[in-house]
Amino acid sequence: KKLIIINGPNLNLLGKREPNIYGSLSFTEFLDTIKAKYPTAAIEHYQSNIEGELIDKIQEVGFSYDGIILNAAAYTHTSIGIGDAVKAIETPVVEVHISNTFGREEFRHQSFVSPNAKGIILGFGLQSYELAIQSFL
Ligand code: DQA
Repeated sequence: KKLIIINGPNLNLLGKREPNIYGSLSFTEFLDTIKAKYPTAAIEHYQSNIEGELIDKIQEVGFSYDGIILNAAAYTHTSIGIGDAVKAIETPVVEVHISNTFGREEFRHQSFVSPNAKGIILGFGLQSYELAIQSFL
């Protein structure tokens, strides 16, 4: 299975950023463990802080990959463009969040990704990504 994790803004700071919410493990450390644990899955990772770059990547992989695991981070709550991209492609998208966004500020309760996601996994820390990967295997 060809899978890609697409991470949005500020997720490059995982491990350093608000560790009480997002944990103290960096994403590369986490990804190494996951890749070793699921050797049959070809798991790629892409991160950008730029909305248009995330849309470009969704379009690029969205007609050939088996699954997209998307944490659009803050753009989840603001980006109609990312929402439209998820709708436009053929590859199923599982929306992921590290934190339980429904237990946080009101502005995090809305998602432009959710209506067109295959499923949503949130609130399990970095394990949210692992559960999303399992859903594609
Ligand atoms: C997040 C939740 C978003 O509300 C926030 O803007 C993020 C990370 C999460 O994974 O919990 O940057 O997507």
